[in-house]
Amino acid sequence: MSLERLIIKDFRNLADCDLTLSDGFNYLIGDNGSGKTSVLEAIHFLGHGRSFRSHLTKRVIRHEQEALFVHGKIHQADQSPLPVGITKRRDGVTEVKIAGQTNQKLAQLAQIVPMQLITPEGFELLTGGPKFRRSFIDWGVFYLHPEFYNAWSRLTRLTKQRNAQLKRATQYREVAYWDAELALLCEQIDAWRRDYVEAVTARAAEICHAFLPDFEIRLSYYRGWDKESEYRQLLADNFERDCQLGYTVSGAHKADLRIKIGAIPVEDVLSRGQLKLMVCALRLAQGLHLTEKTGKQCLYLIDDFASELDSQKRGLLAQSLAQTGAQVFISAINEAQIGEMSSENGKMFYVENGKITAG
Ligand SMILES: Nc1ncnc2c1ncn2[C@@H]1O[C@H](COP(=O)(O)OP(=O)(O)OP(=O)(O)O)[C@@H](O)[C@H]1O
Ligand SMILES: [Mg+2]
Repeated sequence: MSLERLIIKDFRNLADCDLTLSDGFNYLIGDNGSGKTSVLEAIHFLGHGRSFRSHLTKRVIRHEQEALFVHGKIHQADQSPLPVGITKRRDGVTEVKIAGQTNQKLAQLAQIVPMQLITPEGFELLTGGPKFRRSFIDWGVFYLHPEFYNAWSRLTRLTKQRNAQLKRATQYREVAYWDAELALLCEQIDAWRRDYVEAVTARAAEICHAFLPDFEIRLSYYRGWDKESEYRQLLADNFERDCQLGYTVSGAHKADLRIKIGAIPVEDVLSRGQLKLMVCALRLAQGLHLTEKTGKQCLYLIDDFASELDSQKRGLLAQSLAQTGAQVFISAINEAQIGEMSSENGKMFYVENGKITAG
């Protein structure tokens, strides 16, 4: 799967761009503020219906315009190209179009265009709170188990309702109503996540070994409640504590992936460049695992490729990306920063004041 053509309208400073892409590497070269990250953000928007930089759509729509529009023509092996598009208006209305059909769901669009984003802020995966690692795990589970999305949405809704009730309840039976279903969902989600983490960490360990040979990195999954307890029983046992705090303390909504070197969290051991390599290793492992299990290829969006990495590490990363066979989008300030990649088949795009010319 790759994007053959990309049309972007009124997205940040990009007024109107129409790009014919390489199914290998696509380089976005331009000065600060030219619009490189905006191109990556637009591609990400196509796959997620939201920006990775702002929760406010009005910040993303080009100044003084009513709506943004991103359209992609997707190449699929042995099939005719699939057109997909998203429009987001200033009033918040989103329209998703897939193969000419309007009113399609964002989750469906995400299934069609899986993508991995690597930005200079991407350290959050290692240094931020558990929610970043939960979404790392859930990215993979989403693509492997079509039922995950509904189960996860239902879990989120039930947990909210239970938490609201906890604030009023005086006896366990007043919240018990939610707990049977909550327990089933948590156990199912936990089983999917556990299997996924086991498989993807085996792959990630191999890549980490190539990227960071001096470190023995250990990844362990925490399901959100202790190993010994049966979740349904735990909810009953924790009732008083949950009531005092006003929310459900344990559960799949608290899952995490603990990443350590020896007994120390990685962020206390690795340098910034090493952290970036570790994030790349984890994301590459996810893409490779997805392809192995489903045959789907994910796109890689890499913003400010050169930041934090020396020339040897850039070469290593370029080589690993090329080996995935995936379509890759890379932004850099100038061509010298991507010198290590010039041997990789690709297409240059020069970005200047929101206008893009193919090289
Ligand atoms: N809603 C908007 N409408 C128009 N322009 C915007 C909007 N939001 C941001 N911009 C402008 O878009 C430009 C492009 O920003 P972008 O972050 O894509 O640049 P960049 O090429 O990635 O730069 P850098 O190399 O510094 O990361 C900036 O000048 C920014 O001020
Ligand atoms: Mg940028």
